[in-house]
Amino acid sequence: MIRQAIIPLAGLGTRLLPLTSVFPKELLPINGKPGLEYILDECINAGIKEFIFIISNKKKLIKKYFYNDKFYKSIIKKKKDTRVIKEYKKILNLKKKIKFVYQNKPLGTGDAILKTKKHITGSHFLILFPDDLIMNKNCSKDMILVHKKFNCSVMASIKVQKKNVSRWGIYSIKKKINKNNFIIKDVVEKPKQKDAPSTNAVIGRYILPKEIFAKLEKQNKGIGGEIHITDSIRKLIKENHIFIGHNFAGKYLDCGSMNGYIKSSLEISKL
Ligand code: G1P
Repeated sequence: MIRQAIIPLAGLGTRLLPLTSVFPKELLPINGKPGLEYILDECINAGIKEFIFIISNKKKLIKKYFYNDKFYKSIIKKKKDTRVIKEYKKILNLKKKIKFVYQNKPLGTGDAILKTKKHITGSHFLILFPDDLIMNKNCSKDMILVHKKFNCSVMASIKVQKKNVSRWGIYSIKKKINKNNFIIKDVVEKPKQKDAPSTNAVIGRYILPKEIFAKLEKQNKGIGGEIHITDSIRKLIKENHIFIGHNFAGKYLDCGSMNGYIKSSLEISKL
């Protein structure tokens, strides 16, 4: 059973400046709803019972978003707006499920995930990168099904253009299981076009085993001077942990860049 989801939220969001100058990117509205809530809805719908948010001192507004009870209560007392009451109840319910950990130095995804170690209780857990929205079909739910069926780790993936491989983690295939699922042979973080083993890109949804923490503890800095989960995943694969690349069925929206962010509101408004 996958019960816990880790959501890294400590990033500075510089690609979205000036929008992120004082405001966390994950709270920016996408078609009238904070981007983060799409991620949480996906998780709840996939059966997730507990969230571990990785924030930073600069991103405390994210905690405030879930801990603003006094304000809500005073508003609800004054006027009985049923829409606000419903939203408040939703936030209250989510709040009960969230634990917060801090990553105050931007040392990379691997370093962020390592901060959650003491909270992980199960053999596997889910990670979602909030920049990556997947609409129409619940990617996490489908990945959990793949995990259950094959009792292994899973990463969401799409095919990308060769010229863009250096933006992503890229994996090579050992064996095709079926049309959308592949046993991974190797994975490399943001390779140069000439070094890329394929055009299969990892998208921000992972089901990882708790053994990843031992690898992260010893993980050296990789490309860009950061500690990447990709590099620790690579080590687990080398030790014969099974990782499946799952080509998901939903619509992918990259909300981490200004163009992508603007486009995502338009796309979601059409759904
Ligand atoms: C991270 C991962 C990368 C993955 C990507 C998906 O990169 O390191 O392997 O392909 O997320 O969005 P980032 O977006 O943090 O640069």
